[in-house]
Amino acid sequence: MTTPLHFLDLDRFDRATLRRILVRAGELKARHKTRADAALLEGRALAMIFERPSTRTRVSFELAMLQLGGHSLLLTDSESQLGRGETMADTARVLSRYVDAIMIRTSDQRKLWELAEHATVPVINGLTDQSHPCQLMADIMTYEEHRGSIEGRTVAWSGDASNVARSWVHAAVRFGFRLRLACPLPLQPGSPLLDWARSEGGDVTVTERPELAVADADLVVTDTWFSMGIEQAEVRQTQLLPYRVDEAMMALAKPDALFMHCLPAHRDQEVTAAVIDGAQSVVWDEAENRLHAQKGILAWCLS
Ligand code: CP
Ligand code: NVA
Repeated sequence: MTTPLHFLDLDRFDRATLRRILVRAGELKARHKTRADAALLEGRALAMIFERPSTRTRVSFELAMLQLGGHSLLLTDSESQLGRGETMADTARVLSRYVDAIMIRTSDQRKLWELAEHATVPVINGLTDQSHPCQLMADIMTYEEHRGSIEGRTVAWSGDASNVARSWVHAAVRFGFRLRLACPLPLQPGSPLLDWARSEGGDVTVTERPELAVADADLVVTDTWFSMGIEQAEVRQTQLLPYRVDEAMMALAKPDALFMHCLPAHRDQEVTAAVIDGAQSVVWDEAENRLHAQKGILAWCLS
């Protein structure tokens, strides 16, 4: 049996494949209004497992399947046997007999691996504690729609080295841009990820000083200080306060720099209202592109 075309993490892909998926996503987006692809995934079904809450991922995957002629089913852990201890391996075996692909959002990357190991249909990572590759596909698409190729550009991250930040590291290597992460020392990414980036020839650096990361950047990105499952501790808030993206920080980047955030955002924490609601922010385009990027991913997985 051939291995299914899983979409697990960007580091597992070569650049050409990721580029192909994005080109496809762009084509599907361009034809979106004409409904020309309304039968592309006719008769196909996607199971969506959500062990964590979601707005964008759930809505965009469900509508992507609907608009391409397919069907989606929602499984939450509280309303499926996962909540009563059925293993991911058994869930994978069973769902593979019913559906054509499985998307999962989980708090534990190991469950993603377990699902993918035992599924005979493609598995898509809809966010884990370690990564969020679908978000990055939408983000690269969004940057390039506004500013052209991201290759050779400088992206600055300021804040917690979250699951999304880790996927930015993967993306920097795979799409060929410079990534400067500014994070407090206790919240910096671990050395295995940075060693991987270096071993792949990536230009990824980490600093404690946001002003160094953001200087002359083409794009500034941040994420919540309290990712799902992380305790709302005051010490973390204090550590992250100097990393809040405000107008003064944006002024250090290039004058035409963009601002991105995967959302949901907290205007009193990681970013000010003036920045996220300001002229440099493209957060709503990012959210929209989740739909189109994931159509590209689904079309590739189910090709
Ligand atoms: N950005 C993102 O994945 O949003 P949701 O948590 O709403 O799916
Ligand atoms: N880092 C955030 C991303 C939400 C889409 C979280 O894991 O909660």
